[in-house]
Amino acid sequence: MQIVHQIESLRQLIKANRAANPAVRIGFVPTMGFLHRGHASLLEAARKECDVVILSIFVNPLQFGPNEDLERYPRDEERDMAIARETGTDIVFFPQVSEMYPKPTRTMVSVSGVTERLCGASRPGHFDGVATVVTKLLNIVQPDKAYFGMKDAQQVAVIEQMVYDLNIPVTIVPCPIVREEDGLAMSSRNVYLSEEERRQALVLSAALEEAESLLEARKETISPEQLRQTVVRHIQSAPLADIDYVELLSYPDLAPVDFWGSDERIIIAVAVRFGATRLIDNRILHAPVASLSHS
Ligand code: PAF
Repeated sequence: MQIVHQIESLRQLIKANRAANPAVRIGFVPTMGFLHRGHASLLEAARKECDVVILSIFVNPLQFGPNEDLERYPRDEERDMAIARETGTDIVFFPQVSEMYPKPTRTMVSVSGVTERLCGASRPGHFDGVATVVTKLLNIVQPDKAYFGMKDAQQVAVIEQMVYDLNIPVTIVPCPIVREEDGLAMSSRNVYLSEEERRQALVLSAALEEAESLLEARKETISPEQLRQTVVRHIQSAPLADIDYVELLSYPDLAPVDFWGSDERIIIAVAVRFGATRLIDNRILHAPVASLSHS
């Protein structure tokens, strides 16, 4: 496994790989480090489908708001490298902020339509930061495929839209959410939780699971708003849960769903604070074909 810190060294390595085998398939997994099994699953998917697997580790300041956790974002370089090795990663790109942004950037990539709701509403500017750094990374690596986890389902929708609109020649591969055994979605931010917050945070996956069963059992009668309300009530049963949002939208367009449409994919997405830690989770479901009730 090769570890590189400079854009130019990475480009040289990629050039050498492409020169040695013009048909080489390059898989790319962009991350902010503090890797867990969710990231490992992305690297494993890339390993299965590609000849060369490149991981980037870069805590991107552009996507953090002024009062967010940029300074205390968890880091563990040694463990990240161990996970990279175990998953068969070929190249780790580990740049400093000064390498990615030698001067303040004057160009931002901004995706509209899919960024106005959910985390886009709660974290102004966040997706401009994500879209900008992902564009830079895709330009630097020029991979055939890039892998993203569906825990950040809105991020996947934003990146797919951006890649489509800007004709970036890469296939985006969304990968399923990886959960702890008790259902908590894997996140680098889970380490911030106290024992009690961690216990109560299980309400998120439980509420989403209840919503899925309820939709299955009552699809003839339940409306989108009634389904959303059951998720809200379930989450509110945890005293430490402070809801940022619970929304039911179409996916990947992220438009409001007032009535069930035809064969539409929907997302139930939640963002909830437990103490100072904001967690997100979601389920993507097939909406019932038609609705009898819409109260
Ligand atoms: O999902 C993440 O870890 C980040 O948003 C990403 C895609 C690496 C961009 O900084």
